[in-house]
Amino acid sequence: MDMRNEIALVTGANRGIGNGFVEELRARGAKKIYAAVRRPETVPEMEGVVPLRLDVTDDASVARAAELAGDTTLLINNAGVSTFARLTDGAEEDIRLEMETNFFGPLRMVRAFAPILGANGGGAVLNVLSVMAWMAFEHSNGYGASKAAAWSLTNGVRHELAAQGTRVTGLAMASVDTDMIADIEDEKSDPRVIAKAALDGVEAGAFEVLADARTAGWKARLGEDPALLYPHLTEVGAAGR
Ligand SMILES: NC(=O)c1ccc[n+]([C@@H]2O[C@H](COP(=O)([O-])OP(=O)(O)OC[C@H]3O[C@@H](n4cnc5c(N)ncnc54)[C@H](OP(=O)(O)O)[C@@H]3O)[C@@H](O)[C@H]2O)c1
Repeated sequence: MDMRNEIALVTGANRGIGNGFVEELRARGAKKIYAAVRRPETVPEMEGVVPLRLDVTDDASVARAAELAGDTTLLINNAGVSTFARLTDGAEEDIRLEMETNFFGPLRMVRAFAPILGANGGGAVLNVLSVMAWMAFEHSNGYGASKAAAWSLTNGVRHELAAQGTRVTGLAMASVDTDMIADIEDEKSDPRVIAKAALDGVEAGAFEVLADARTAGWKARLGEDPALLYPHLTEVGAAGR
């Protein structure tokens, strides 16, 4: 896929990694970019960029966006939320919001845009996942569950859309320097660097892009016994038995 021939739709395009995608798509000469956002007034005027109102948690909004962006050939499901909720004592509504946005959001978008991509020659879908699909912490595990579900969705959709010639790429990474984790101290990637790696992968037809070493490391260890991945948990509860 050569971006100069593509009409891309980026969800959550107004800031963070979504904005990185818009910049990188422009640099690669994409024909048109739909910046799909909840508040179109937050998208600055840029040549080749068309603001599109979209809330990925709202069926009617997704259907309306599909009506207006029927020439899309590359769907980038980037919009996401992280509430940092814990599974055991976080607010259930926070965990539901993560699932609604990070799993059902891409699901709604893929269902609405699959016929469009098919009619436009196949095209491609890029789903923004996270290393949290493959690891756990003391917090953010609702988010992790939503990204694990989105990973599974990505793999399933790849099979289902193969017959119509649509390529499906999953993008996973650890911390990126955006509002989402502004309060967290960590080594963070530049959003534009992530967008570059992801679009290189889409252009090459990659099934998966692991954008940093930490993510590649966690993915590589998926087959291991969880006791080896989390040795500090092996003693928990042992004294009581
Ligand atoms: N930052 C990281 O460390 C990191 C690491 C791995 C994966 N990711 C993933 O990367 C993606 C982008 O995250 P980011 O770091 O750029 O986060 P961000 O700066 O918080 O931006 C999130 C974007 O998603 C949009 N959004 C949220 N809910 C939406 C909805 N219901 N409908 C439409 N748009 C919605 C936001 O729009 P508003 O401006 O309207 O709120 C915003 O544009 C997410 O899928 C995230 O899970 C991030």
